[in-house]
Amino acid sequence: MKTINPDKNQLHELLANRWSPRAFSYEMLSETEVANLFEAARWAASANNEQPWRFIYSTDRNSETYRRLFECLVPFNQDWAKTAPLLMLTLVRTNFTKNNKFNRYAQHDLGLAIGNMTVQAASAGIYVHNMGGFEIEKAKELFGISPDFEPVTMIAAGRLGDINQIPSDLQETEFTMQKRKGINEIATTDFNFDLI
Ligand SMILES: Cc1cc2nc3c(=O)[nH]c(=O)nc-3n(C[C@H](O)[C@H](O)[C@H](O)COP(=O)(O)O)c2cc1C
Repeated sequence: MKTINPDKNQLHELLANRWSPRAFSYEMLSETEVANLFEAARWAASANNEQPWRFIYSTDRNSETYRRLFECLVPFNQDWAKTAPLLMLTLVRTNFTKNNKFNRYAQHDLGLAIGNMTVQAASAGIYVHNMGGFEIEKAKELFGISPDFEPVTMIAAGRLGDINQIPSDLQETEFTMQKRKGINEIATTDFNFDLI
């Protein structure tokens, strides 16, 4: 079996230095910084150029939108995400606009858009933390989401804060590098490779 050996130094620093923090600084993001994140998302590839991604966001803790976004999060995520200056709900349009057929690439394409957003954020010293821990039905209800759209994730974003501001059990893992599968576990040239 052919093994793949990447040159570690070739991994782009924006990718190498990215991680999902929980200790976010309260420091606000400027309107332009936030706009740049969505601009990056906007330029992602998508099946049939459908651009199925949608984002409901808030940078204003006193706003009704922020209150509703925050309410959707499970308590575990609320505990740390409360300091992040940007909260958002991500959604996809589940069917293609042109023929109303199911778009099986919608969530894939949302992921591409969030990937763009994450790298753009990293270039500005901003960190992105994706969250699956939220109540989908509550999000649908609180934002009156039409049946054409499906909430997918929530995101907290901002600059790094003080580790002491997050619950002590989360502090231990804050700076621990997450493990990854080996490159030869995820990519192969074999035609009879046992996927595990
Ligand atoms: C779709 C998705 C859902 C996630 N949900 C949560 C979550 O609800 N709460 C949380 O603290 N982290 C969540 N994470 C963060 C992952 O645990 C994290 O990305 C993973 O452990 C790898 O760590 P890293 O991003 O720091 O490299 C989620 C990540 C993704 C992509």
